[in-house]
Amino acid sequence: MATIPAANDWWRSAVVYQVYPRSFADSNGDGIGDIRGIIEHLDHLVFLGVDALWISPWYPSPLADGGYDVSDYCDINPDFGTLDDADALVTRAHELGLRIIIDLVPNHSSEEHPWFKEALAAVPGSPERDRYIFRDGHGVNGELPPNNWPSVFGGSAWQRITESDGTPGQWYLHFFDVSQPDWNWKNPEVVKEFDRILKFWFDRGVDGFRIDVANSMVKESGLPDLPENEEIGELVGNSPMWDQPGLAPIQRRWRAIADEYQDTPEGPRMFVAEAYLPHDRLVRYLEPDRLHASFNFEFLLSAWSAGSLRTTITESLAAHESVGASATWVLGNHDNFRPVSRYGKQISGLDFSDPAPPHAQFHGTPTDIVLGRRRARAAVMLELALPGGAYVYQGEELGLPEVEDLPDDVLQDPTWERSEHTDRGRDGCRVPLPWSGSEAPYGWSSTDNTWLPIPNTWADWTVEAEKNDPSSFLTLYRTLLAERRDNPALGAGTMRWNDSPDDVLDFSREPNFRCVVNFGDDAVLVMADSVIVASASLENHGELALIGRDQAAWLRS
Ligand code: NOJ
Ligand code: CA
Repeated sequence: MATIPAANDWWRSAVVYQVYPRSFADSNGDGIGDIRGIIEHLDHLVFLGVDALWISPWYPSPLADGGYDVSDYCDINPDFGTLDDADALVTRAHELGLRIIIDLVPNHSSEEHPWFKEALAAVPGSPERDRYIFRDGHGVNGELPPNNWPSVFGGSAWQRITESDGTPGQWYLHFFDVSQPDWNWKNPEVVKEFDRILKFWFDRGVDGFRIDVANSMVKESGLPDLPENEEIGELVGNSPMWDQPGLAPIQRRWRAIADEYQDTPEGPRMFVAEAYLPHDRLVRYLEPDRLHASFNFEFLLSAWSAGSLRTTITESLAAHESVGASATWVLGNHDNFRPVSRYGKQISGLDFSDPAPPHAQFHGTPTDIVLGRRRARAAVMLELALPGGAYVYQGEELGLPEVEDLPDDVLQDPTWERSEHTDRGRDGCRVPLPWSGSEAPYGWSSTDNTWLPIPNTWADWTVEAEKNDPSSFLTLYRTLLAERRDNPALGAGTMRWNDSPDDVLDFSREPNFRCVVNFGDDAVLVMADSVIVASASLENHGELALIGRDQAAWLRS
């Protein structure tokens, strides 16, 4: 029985913890994280003080893209457990007051999905082919791809098949890996199948879905070529591949389904959109009859600079306000460089309109990890003080770094192969979590043979070690989340910038709350007895406390 309060708009202020199931905890010693492992460690999330979990895909999958290649949307990957385990997790989480968001992957399936196998076995022009995006090739013998679209993971977005009679055949579209064929969202059967999938999980009690690549799915009719010699990436507008008007009716349809659960014990269900789009385009997805929330990737990708962050925050809040939605704040996820490593690099952010994959640009440049850690502590204080919801990716609460030196032969991200070994991909932020003890695998599993190796240098960063360390990341996160729960100024609402030097972010929230983040050399002086919490110990001068470079403080105002 659910014990969570049936608040209608909990997502407007919730702190959501992202679980990457393959790497969270391995309960049965096969070297792969699993659902029982999540259940066994829910106490960590209660201790931490988050409101909800988002679980990255847990469906049957060949794991060619870490589970974002789904072969059955209504079951559980046997490596991770069973449907009964999933039900047990939802029940237990709800008993503990935690909501559960799961991942919907609607742009593409796995090549192992039965409908894709049917499509391959069927003939061109058949209803089975029409559930995906098959086209004849160009050239005399159809030997050239139907258009010039690139795959996000490198190479062409088209793959030619061999027809069942053995002849070279049609091509299918795959925005991501070749094993991830894109669905045809203009086909009503596909639309109805996803209605069924949503209801299947909502009926089992999940509180919401994170929508994978929510700006893809619908492609411009006629699949026109991208203009020659012009880089139009995912992040830029006016691409026939992304952010098409046909997305709106699908989002409205899903919203209506979620709202049908209004009168259930858990209340209405929610959607959070994953879409690398600038704010002005993104918030259209958050109009009142569409989706509820979206990840703030402009914030995630912002450089560690007062100017860049101030602009991002101001624009985010204004854009969300314009549609009546609540903003979210994100520092990392399973696709992006870990914040402590990114903030320790000379270039710590990205130009949001750059079409290259975000992780690619940080590989291979030096990191000052001490600096990165100091900044990441200040960054989470900024994140959790801002109006709206927040997302914490597993391991951020331990201050885990990106593992930048994984050996080539353990890399699993398809990006590595598809980029012809020029982009090391995202495995470095997906390394299993260290729970306890002094040697790898740090209580994560009973086998040393973990799906990605855990560095032998993580003994100080286990949950166990950090729990007992007042200066740890875990203690900081826990302190901030406890304050956020108790302090009526925090969570959803408004904020006001205070006058400050250019290299200081200083804002207030009502009642009586102020956040200061210093990016510059000149200390910011505050009354020592007004400090609620600081990212690092502050130098004191009599009644005054000094907030130094790359430090943040929450204050009573
Ligand atoms: C975004 C997911 O977060 C990422 O991990 C995945 O590779 C792509 N979408 C494709 O599903
Ligand atoms: Ca396991």
